[in-house]
Amino acid sequence: MKRRKFIQNTSLSSFGIVAGATVIGCKENSDTAKTSSVPKEKDTVVKTTIPIVIATWNVHDSTAKAWKVLEQGKSSLDAIEQGCMVEEANAEGQSVGIGGLPDRDGNVTLDACIMNKEGNYGAVVYMQNIKHAISVARKVMEDTPHVILAGKGAEQFAVSKGFKKENLLTDASKKAWEKWKKTSQYKPVINIENHDTIGMLAIDKNGDISGGCTTSGLSYKMAGRVGDSPIIGSGLFVDNEVGAATATGLGEEVLKTVGSFLIVELMRQGMSPQKACEEAIGRIVGKNQNYEHFQVGYIAINKKGETGAYSIHDGFYVTTYVNDKNESTKPVFFNKKG
Ligand code: GLY
Repeated sequence: MKRRKFIQNTSLSSFGIVAGATVIGCKENSDTAKTSSVPKEKDTVVKTTIPIVIATWNVHDSTAKAWKVLEQGKSSLDAIEQGCMVEEANAEGQSVGIGGLPDRDGNVTLDACIMNKEGNYGAVVYMQNIKHAISVARKVMEDTPHVILAGKGAEQFAVSKGFKKENLLTDASKKAWEKWKKTSQYKPVINIENHDTIGMLAIDKNGDISGGCTTSGLSYKMAGRVGDSPIIGSGLFVDNEVGAATATGLGEEVLKTVGSFLIVELMRQGMSPQKACEEAIGRIVGKNQNYEHFQVGYIAINKKGETGAYSIHDGFYVTTYVNDKNESTKPVFFNKKG
């Protein structure tokens, strides 16, 4: 079967298996033709569907919220903020917002960033007592001359903007921390990794891309540790002319390879989102014999609405909301023997 024909026949359930085959169109993305830097893959269907929302892990409620915002005709930036807020408010989730697992001193500390179609970016790192880190990050982007606020400064800024201070350590997370304290050993668990960062990318009806990333970071981390999620180019990167990427997993490895920026630059050079994600994972495993012991996963989207996802190990999930369907899929992964 010719590639073109195959792609047209591919359903959403094949997410990540065929580069550029995840989105079957009902509405042409007119921006594609206007954007000279968008790679033109030979014999690849350019028909795409927008709006679209894609997020790391099984976060149907978050993607559903983001989709609703897009359906109302609002921007991808609004969709990203409101979508991420859903998971931040979920006290049962132990990796994002309220209920996040604490650092080794018992403090829940949040990292988040957001990036818009103009390439503007805002982030908070190591912020405590405010659950909607993504919204504070947006305020940093829109209301300050800076791009990152950290720790107490971030918290004070949030309070000055009307955010409510609250205890983010739930009974369940406190109990888990107390159990951990008995041995105090840090061992990331593959696929769960002690944290599941929510990275979300969206394209609105105008074809504009935004992204966000929010996390409580590695559980039982050292006080002061900051992961990849709030760092531009590592946990998230958006270039509205090309596409966007975001990461989940062991932040140290993503930081060392500036993974999300790498993926967007590879897409700029003509790679599909899928191949670009695979290349970024390749950079990590190629340099690190230790990859058996940690997980990293990437998702990416290009201007055409094509998506890609790849992780080191099995167990990574991606949620995509497109064409009125909100579906989780398991992408292909590197470590087949694992
Ligand atoms: N990827 C999130 C973190 O390492 O903190």
